[in-house]
Amino acid sequence: MSFVNFQGVTKSFGKTLAVEELNLSIEQGEFFSLLGPSGCGKSTTLRMLAGFIAPSTGRIHVHGRDITDLPPESRDIGIVFQNYAIFPHMTVFDNIAFGLVERREDRTSIKRKVEAALEQVGLAGYGGRYERELSGGQKQRVALARVLVIEPEILLLDEPLSALDKKMREEMKFWIKNIQKSVGITTIYVTHDQSEALTMSDRIAVMDAGRVLQVGSPVEIYEEPNSRFIAEFIGESNLLMGRMDDGQVDIGGTSVPIPDPRGAASGDEVALLLRPEQIRLEPLSPEEPPKLTGRVADEVYQGSIRRYLVESRGQTVTVEVPNRPDLSQLPKGAEVSLFWHPDSSVVLR
Ligand SMILES: Nc1ncnc2c1ncn2[C@@H]1O[C@H](COP(=O)(O)OP(=O)(O)OP(=O)(O)O)[C@@H](O)[C@H]1O
Ligand SMILES: [Mg+2]
Repeated sequence: MSFVNFQGVTKSFGKTLAVEELNLSIEQGEFFSLLGPSGCGKSTTLRMLAGFIAPSTGRIHVHGRDITDLPPESRDIGIVFQNYAIFPHMTVFDNIAFGLVERREDRTSIKRKVEAALEQVGLAGYGGRYERELSGGQKQRVALARVLVIEPEILLLDEPLSALDKKMREEMKFWIKNIQKSVGITTIYVTHDQSEALTMSDRIAVMDAGRVLQVGSPVEIYEEPNSRFIAEFIGESNLLMGRMDDGQVDIGGTSVPIPDPRGAASGDEVALLLRPEQIRLEPLSPEEPPKLTGRVADEVYQGSIRRYLVESRGQTVTVEVPNRPDLSQLPKGAEVSLFWHPDSSVVLR
């Protein structure tokens, strides 16, 4: 059995089915993310694991032990919330020491542990400060130190970065991931931000409307999504509508080779997933037969890339071109060829 197991867990609040038939296995030491749009049941799942709410049906096991009926304080789980306000009237040191004082640890051991925790979160020397003297990122580090210092078996993080600005979020993403790896603590991370999930996780469960739709590594989720929903939710995507025809996909009369029909049979309507960065755009030329041809409908300058909208066979294809002088810039109205490697496309039913 895996380290953390949800078995047939369902939670309803009155008529709202927040989580439905959840079956999840999480390994020891894993960084596991629950990713999905607002209201899909991520926090509910975390709160059931922490013991703040009870499942309507189903069981939860940790380390082979059924913890479904245990109160939160008997579970050895630490949780950091989005706005985990640290106590404003206490110093950083006392905030971090809080859980240890509650456990009546002796003063020397508390001092040693808090100082080690401050060091660990990069806040050595900040013990005497108060909340008002800290940046958003530093507050979140204190919140994390406060949980890590009691050495829980499992760390739960519920959107811990959403209150921070973009630059700080970017920094903290890598920082949390590094701390998690160095401590080796089993971590479940909740976010609706796909870039956070892709950057930080060993595996991701993508949820929608109370259900898990796919579990996989970031590479699997991004490159082999199992549904149109996931293809559109994770990263940018083109879904070209077509029909299976003799092992290829027919898009408006042009046959396009594919790596794998993934169960689709001739005549089936399918969507062909093509990521904007996987497509090469060239001026129309007779020399190299393109996969598709089209016309530039719009071009948007975005600094590091140029984004082209290309009309092809009655559909719009988004193409991202790195902003480099050796890559051609194409004006609106230009006739263009689209190329891509067949392995970078995915057939979705
Ligand atoms: N205590 C509650 N009482 C009634 N309904 C609830 C309660 N908690 C959650 N819900 C409902 O359950 C569903 C799932 O909520 P949950 O908080 O798990 O979503 P979430 O995925 O964490 O969303 P967000 O990204 O917005 O935080 C929502 O429809 C929500 O309104
Ligand atoms: Mg939530």
